[in-house]
Amino acid sequence: MAQPEFPKLSNRPEWAALADHRAEGQPHLRELFAADPGRAERYALRVGDLYIDYSKHLITDETLALLQELAAATGVFALRDAMFRGEKINVTEQRAVLHTALRAPRDAVIEVDGENVAPKVHAVLDKMADFAGKVRSGEWTGHTGKRIRNVVNIGIGGSDLGPAMAYEVLRPYTARELTFRFVSNVDGADLHEATRDLDPAETLFIVASKTFTTIETITNATSARTWLLDGLGGEEKAVARHFVALSTNAEKVTGFGIDPDNMFEFWDWVGGRYSYDSAIGLSLMIAIGPDRFREMLDGFRLMDDHFRTAPAEANAPLLLGLLGIWYGNFHDAQSHAVLPYSHYLSKFTAYLQQLDMESNGKSVQRDGEPVDWQTGPVVWGTPGTNGQHAYYQLIHQGTKLVPADFIGFARPVDELSGELKAQHDLLMANFFAQTQALAFGKTAEEVRAEGVPEEQVAHRTFRGDHPTTTILAGELTPSVLGQLIALYEHKVFVQGAVWNIDSFDQWGVELGKVLAKRVEPALTEGADVPGLDPSTTALVAAYRTLKNA
Ligand code: F6P
Repeated sequence: MAQPEFPKLSNRPEWAALADHRAEGQPHLRELFAADPGRAERYALRVGDLYIDYSKHLITDETLALLQELAAATGVFALRDAMFRGEKINVTEQRAVLHTALRAPRDAVIEVDGENVAPKVHAVLDKMADFAGKVRSGEWTGHTGKRIRNVVNIGIGGSDLGPAMAYEVLRPYTARELTFRFVSNVDGADLHEATRDLDPAETLFIVASKTFTTIETITNATSARTWLLDGLGGEEKAVARHFVALSTNAEKVTGFGIDPDNMFEFWDWVGGRYSYDSAIGLSLMIAIGPDRFREMLDGFRLMDDHFRTAPAEANAPLLLGLLGIWYGNFHDAQSHAVLPYSHYLSKFTAYLQQLDMESNGKSVQRDGEPVDWQTGPVVWGTPGTNGQHAYYQLIHQGTKLVPADFIGFARPVDELSGELKAQHDLLMANFFAQTQALAFGKTAEEVRAEGVPEEQVAHRTFRGDHPTTTILAGELTPSVLGQLIALYEHKVFVQGAVWNIDSFDQWGVELGKVLAKRVEPALTEGADVPGLDPSTTALVAAYRTLKNA
């Protein structure tokens, strides 16, 4: 794709207008709500199954208009259309960015280098469905003829976080008679804990790696193969029944000893952190079954269609992206919290960390010129009620502005009954109470009116005016998960487009990988590593001493 002429963001009049608007200051959220009885209704969107309330943000109609002008001036929608068309918008790697093709309908026509990729996507989905069906039914047996009862996904980053997160989210939909584990860390303890109570004859390893060169994954997969062969009497041909691969690299997969028939393919136009609805989702598909997996893809597609077609003022990913820019660039917010009120979303924020921080943790523009504006935030958070008793204190009364997304559901999952089901209202009472407290706070007058001694009034006052988005859905279904993930994918896209950075490369992870390879011989063989800095040399020496103590 030809590089668009892109005047420096910080020199744009739309940027200056937002800075001026910020400098003017704004009434407290209490006053904004008091002055506008329709605010909650006006600042809310319904997209698919999601009800998105953005009324508790530090914005007015003017803020929104100025943000929209910035989006228009920076060509967000033009870049969006180029992405959906399959243009090579990942400029540093010269790749198309087509995770949206992974959930396109069978009859879609999406071309990369003149070839329609939709039939390939569906051929792999069909192959996955066939295999998943066989594992779930017991038709696919291990080397000794026993049925598979354990599935261990070995992968890291995008080849782990997506399936591991989605498995947790959709646990109530999973085949409970099967055990699923996710191994990512090159710390041998990870694989040890994942396999120590499993029978190799009943265990299937899914080696998930886009490149099939990632050292952590290949090391763990090699150790898993040894574990398997040790447990099954050393017969090499057992590998074919117990190992499958998910990758773009057929040559490396074959080189590892995995039968190419047992490889599920994807393509270089799927970024690792955008890949769990590709073949990388095989473990999830085995867990929830092909039909539920397709329901999830439908959810993704619903949000894709919304992002592609909804007008700017009602476009949820655009709005959420712009709100993040408002805080990160004009309010000096350094981080963004994602706080789900669902136990099943316990890994959701960890997943979003890679999605957001690997995409937008950049400091040069698409043409390599440095930015002089803030880019991606630190994304953090854990399930909300636990956070309330840990770090919410800082969000309520600390000195930092932490914009936060609250995600909750009206109904608990079907499996819950009796008292456990009834607990859901208490969970959600907390959900609503927190965004209320964050927005409206508690004034010193209100504290005094409660009879609080004067010396404690300041301590017990809540300033309020803390911005939150509330995302509410009926129930946490596969489709809702797809809608949520696509919402965040496109939000991250919007921000990268405005900041004029390449959201689809990840060069920042390379240096550490190269240095690890250089240092390793010093640790394993005691070899001298020329050119190590003094601090690392001293640390390596200390490590060697401690290792042999
Ligand atoms: O090191 C970063 C990274 O390249 C991620 O972007 C990716 O998701 C992860 O490593 C795993 O890569 P692979 O799937 O090729 O093993």
